[in-house]
Amino acid sequence: MENNVNLSEVGGSGRDGRVLKEDILHYLSRQTGAIIPPSSPSPPLSPPPSPSSTPSSPQSSSPPPPPVVQRFTEDRSVVIKGVQKVMSRTMSASLLVPHFGYSDEVDLSRLVSLRRRLQTHAETRGVKLSYMPFFLKALSLALYEFPILNAHLDDRCESLTYKASHDIGVAMDTPGGLVVPVLRGIERLPLLAIAAELSRLQSRGRAGALGAAELSGGTFTLSNVGSIGGTYTHPVILTPEVAIGALGKIQVLPRFNERGEVVAAHIMKVSWSADHRVLDGATVSRFSNLWKSLLEEPASMILHLA
Ligand code: COA
Repeated sequence: MENNVNLSEVGGSGRDGRVLKEDILHYLSRQTGAIIPPSSPSPPLSPPPSPSSTPSSPQSSSPPPPPVVQRFTEDRSVVIKGVQKVMSRTMSASLLVPHFGYSDEVDLSRLVSLRRRLQTHAETRGVKLSYMPFFLKALSLALYEFPILNAHLDDRCESLTYKASHDIGVAMDTPGGLVVPVLRGIERLPLLAIAAELSRLQSRGRAGALGAAELSGGTFTLSNVGSIGGTYTHPVILTPEVAIGALGKIQVLPRFNERGEVVAAHIMKVSWSADHRVLDGATVSRFSNLWKSLLEEPASMILHLA
């Protein structure tokens, strides 16, 4: 109350998700950018910037606050719980899946300039348009052609269920750890609606407020780890899904154009992992080629407007 904090926006690290004093301090430090080492005495609670002093227009590009750093002077064991526990359980289950890896590079030069042009339109509607909505829309269009990648496989590998809805899990880096909220029915959503839903889930992820309903039931997962860094990766399938994609950092690199001239191109690497019990390399390659072609010629997505 002292700091006008809305508790539903603070992730609780206490038993049963209780919000502890430390959670409030970390929340406030994220607002103010302060770093609180674990051994330091609790600083006085300083008020976060008032909403009026930090306009939340989509154009504001304030740098993200630095992460809260813990420095250990002696060994300390902690119980694996919460998001980390879920990650450990899910990833152990994935070990049973024979992963098949496939990678390629995508020339996003046209998409980079298209997004630049569309950003202003999105911003006038209060929506931040990142690259993800394009990656997701192209993914959905490719899944229409290759529904076997949007399927669930049962534990005993006896039944494959083709899922009608494209419910795409998006790996999200949050202060509480890796979470994978799901954007539902993206085949029915226009780009702006995908962008708005992604922003909504990002804010809830930052506040540690994502609920079980938002974190389950995905039919395919996309991880844009390139927004942090890296080129190639080896993503791990979230069962019962049968495939996952991971995107590297967009880099400006020299490439040949159709006239054989060297030009500066915006290149992004994509790494797919697929369950080799139900998917073969040729299918994944054809699917990837389609997704890639939609992003390399983004105007072609207009042909698929409903
Ligand atoms: N390469 C280079 N820059 C990228 C990029 C990429 N692959 N993807 C996004 N960016 C840029 C964005 O354009 C944005 O810049 P801008 O504000 O100038 O437009 C900036 O990086 C931040 O983007 P972000 O706010 O993260 O939005 P997003 O829609 O691109 O990504 C998430 C949303 C949720 C995917 C992202 O925030 C995230 O959490 N990524 C990490 C996923 C992860 O941890 N994966 C590992 C799982 S094991």
